[in-house]
Amino acid sequence: MLGRILFGLTLLFFTASLFASTGLRDYQSPNRLAVGAAARSSIISNSSESLYRTTLAREYNMITPENELKWKATEPAQNKFNFSSADVIATFALKNGMKIRGHNLLWGLSNPTWLTQGQYSATQLQSIMENHISKVMTHYRTQFPGIVTTWDVVNELINAGPGIWTPLGKSTDKVTQAFNIASIALKAARAADPSAKLCINEYSLERNGSATNTYKLVSRLKKAGIPLDCVGFQGHLSTGSVTKSQWIASLTAFAKLGVEVHITEFDATNAPPAQYSNAINACLSVPQCKAFITWGFTDKYTWRGTAAHPLPFDEKYNKKPAYDTLKNALATN
Ligand code: XIL
Repeated sequence: MLGRILFGLTLLFFTASLFASTGLRDYQSPNRLAVGAAARSSIISNSSESLYRTTLAREYNMITPENELKWKATEPAQNKFNFSSADVIATFALKNGMKIRGHNLLWGLSNPTWLTQGQYSATQLQSIMENHISKVMTHYRTQFPGIVTTWDVVNELINAGPGIWTPLGKSTDKVTQAFNIASIALKAARAADPSAKLCINEYSLERNGSATNTYKLVSRLKKAGIPLDCVGFQGHLSTGSVTKSQWIASLTAFAKLGVEVHITEFDATNAPPAQYSNAINACLSVPQCKAFITWGFTDKYTWRGTAAHPLPFDEKYNKKPAYDTLKNALATN
């Protein structure tokens, strides 16, 4: 009798812990998607934020460091690299069977003062850029093998513009300029880690992707044989909806150019379940769509400000309707 009770209790405990450890990463068919969230090293390291850690590890199989791999963080002084914050996230990923999306290697924003104020020539900028890409990628390839599978090599090059990298563009035409800058960065990235997926990451691609300058850019890069594996659709949505067919048409247009497509920074003001549903279901219906990542996961920590509530978990780490939408889509596709 006692044996049976003990057996029953053990079974109950086992089943309960099995359910407790099930998250978004588990509902899909095996390896269909990277399901991820951006995260911050300071919160991962905060002893009073255990729910942040358990939620992140339970739900996701990929993390994008929110700021820790940007230039300001990794090369605060010229050729003096600091990987301490990003390594906190890489260590967390390693421990929890997760991968990292490296964000990012080149952007017009978040750059250190030595770089923005340096007034470098095009030749100098090129070697500064190549050195940075090589050093950052080599650190992760050698210190955390197999963890940083994907890199946003260039970020917002068309929409935010090249900023300090403009001299390397050698043109006043936006697309040509971006093509010249991205080519240098992508080649350096391929040389530093031949097995990483190399992406271009951009915003406002979801409504009419094939009409954008980013589409022209990707098309030219692929035709020229420049190493490029994926295009990231950031997907920061405010009011105003994006339909599932807009998402599908835009994702498909890029996929036809011969790249994977990733949704990389999704969030939506007030987290309308329909907006989440349109995006995730579109991604799941396009075979080349290989990642769905939200920019954060709890409304407690979002770059959109305290009034936006754009994420799948509330401030107390409770699941919101947007969460159920993601879960159902992953489970049924
Ligand atoms: C944002 C971070 O979330 C903020 O914490 C930081 O202050 C500024 O950058 N597009 C991007 C991200 O590619 O890197 C941005 O992240 C959000 C918009």
